[in-house]
Amino acid sequence: PLKSLPAILPDPLLQVAQLARLDRRPEKIDLTIGVYRDQHGQTPVLESVKSAEKHLLETERTKSYLSTDGVEQFCEEITGFLLPRGEVTCSDIVTIQAVGGTGALSLAAEFLCRFTKNRTVWVPVPAWSNHVPVMERSGLTVRRLGRSDSLGRRDFPAFMRVIRHQARPGDIILLQPGCHNPTGDDWTDEEWSAIADACIASRLIPILDVAYHGLGRGLHDDISRVHRVFSQAEIAFLSYSCSKNFSLYRERVGALIVGGLKRGLAMAIHPHLSAIARAAYSMPPSHGGSIVGHILANEALRRIWIDELADMQNRLGKIRSTFACHQALAGRDLRHVADGHGMFTLLPLSEQNLIHLRKKHAIYIPSSGRINLAGLNAGNLSRFAYALSQLNNQ
Ligand code: LMR
Repeated sequence: PLKSLPAILPDPLLQVAQLARLDRRPEKIDLTIGVYRDQHGQTPVLESVKSAEKHLLETERTKSYLSTDGVEQFCEEITGFLLPRGEVTCSDIVTIQAVGGTGALSLAAEFLCRFTKNRTVWVPVPAWSNHVPVMERSGLTVRRLGRSDSLGRRDFPAFMRVIRHQARPGDIILLQPGCHNPTGDDWTDEEWSAIADACIASRLIPILDVAYHGLGRGLHDDISRVHRVFSQAEIAFLSYSCSKNFSLYRERVGALIVGGLKRGLAMAIHPHLSAIARAAYSMPPSHGGSIVGHILANEALRRIWIDELADMQNRLGKIRSTFACHQALAGRDLRHVADGHGMFTLLPLSEQNLIHLRKKHAIYIPSSGRINLAGLNAGNLSRFAYALSQLNNQ
């Protein structure tokens, strides 16, 4: 009954993450999927989340359906938290709870494929390994624009040239305002402002992918880059993930927020997003959205969460500087690691290097050479640096 099925490669990141999961060697260092780990290598449930879960257990009275928008309190709270009136000057804003950040990107892409003339999205290189698959699945044509030069450094002039001269009005552009995945090499404030302004001037439709809010420069500074775009764009999409900053990975909670200067436009988009959600999965699950909604609505819990998030952000900053201090031991230049933001950095490693690290040292890194810095701690950092130095002698 089926046509013959073509061979298909597994997702390269999930594949190596699975290999790491199966490795039982006690010295294993897993630097694969972007999951925060504490200094003991654990990803515990946050205290704020546990308290919210207790509250839900005691007060939840029904498991009846939600609307296609998801948990009402979540949508209200997350919108007010991310895009407070006064900070952004959109005429209207619409929020729909999504199945994680991936779900939010999918909803945006599917809507834009149906309702843009050009059906073209610009995706920077390098990007998160799922950006292109998500955009292509919706039917959009993906075009690439380089964000790095041949040495892997940010290439602002080249990026701006494409925005100004190659992208056509009505094209979509997928941007990460901060904590860039996979490089950690964010645009400076000045560069970001110029990029945002050029996108608006070129009449591009921005999708801003924010999956690490609070883990870069902090809650306020990370989101202010979004405010700049939402205050100027005719229409803009924010794909937001609560996986990392609320440590709610498996609960799949995120949001798609649409805002625009043109009165009524975001409101007109809303029923179309609901229709896409309805046809795809009807409504998102309730648990994760209810947790986040409750934390944000409750002053005391919100403060606990903000402190917990600040601890994660500080630890990532410390790992960056400590790892960079190991550059003599590692025998390679690691200055870019100290300067980066968020969970990731890129190391130039060959396929042969990666296999050697895996087999000889039980160190797991995806084929892109991206490492999740949260997988490093006081107990394994020197060993990792030493293993890197051994590659030079291979
Ligand atoms: C990552 O990049 O590792 C995370 O965003 C998790 C994922 O789904 O890929």
